[in-house]
Amino acid sequence: MDITKAIIPAAGLGTRFLPYTKAVPKEMLPLLNKPALQYIIEEGLASDIKQFYIITSRGKHAIEDYFDTNPCLEQMLKDRNKESSIASINKITRNAQFTYIRQSEPQGLGHAISLARHTIGKEYFGVFLPDDIIAGKQAGLAQLMRIARQEKASVIAVQEVPQDCVSSYGVIAVKKQITPNLFQVSHLVEKPDKKDAPSNLAIIGRYVLSHKIFPAIDDISSYATDEIQLTDGISQMMKHNEKVFAYKIQGTRYDIGNPIGWLKATIGFAMQDPNYAPHIRQYISELDTMQSFMYDNTKNIVHNV
Ligand code: G1P
Repeated sequence: MDITKAIIPAAGLGTRFLPYTKAVPKEMLPLLNKPALQYIIEEGLASDIKQFYIITSRGKHAIEDYFDTNPCLEQMLKDRNKESSIASINKITRNAQFTYIRQSEPQGLGHAISLARHTIGKEYFGVFLPDDIIAGKQAGLAQLMRIARQEKASVIAVQEVPQDCVSSYGVIAVKKQITPNLFQVSHLVEKPDKKDAPSNLAIIGRYVLSHKIFPAIDDISSYATDEIQLTDGISQMMKHNEKVFAYKIQGTRYDIGNPIGWLKATIGFAMQDPNYAPHIRQYISELDTMQSFMYDNTKNIVHNV
């Protein structure tokens, strides 16, 4: 099973990050010195994905510029002997191909994915939701690809979440537990009430899907009254005998679609980097002490989370 293509829906407005996202795509938020989307592309390359189909919308040009070459900048850095500062992005522009597809109106994740259907033949492909950053020893999507090849089927990443949080996610119902981390799925429910959730195994933003998802999305689109959910498309695909598995992905997952998750990711990545970790550790240990001149815990910063 060759899996070399991935679709990345990046058309969302990023309302949880306004006003920042008024002019800058949320996918371009920095995690240390790289935009968040670069971590996704690096995970893709580490999973042997070569072609990325990014679904964008108005105001997302910074993404296209970033993943393109910039000969003037490269020459200037070469002249100053500073080429290494853009080495990580140059590696991407040399090894990956990018195609951009516009979603003119927000009509849901299922709709966004279906816009790239002409790029996918009769094959399996990856999906990355860029709000979910997965850090760990093995690339997140590569873990799903291994299962997809083993089971010859579609695979969804899941994570156990507290029961109180299930209504923020798509949730799986388990048909059969195969190993401690692998499940065959019987159906999926998008953002259920706590009382209706079939499990606490929440879908996180990595999928390996069969091309059969596209006719399934067409089926549900014909009667959808609101956004076209990918979760409903996957459930529909299962009705047409495509098996779906769920794998408890190994690694740390950050939801960077909101400021708290993004801050945690920033600190988490900094703590993994020997250049930053000692500074962050020292800063955090000083925060609540008399020595700290940067923090007055009698004052609150007023902000909207
Ligand atoms: C989307 C999916 C949902 C999934 C979540 C993971 O929801 O629809 O099934 O659990 O991503 O982050 P969103 O967070 O875009 O509303």
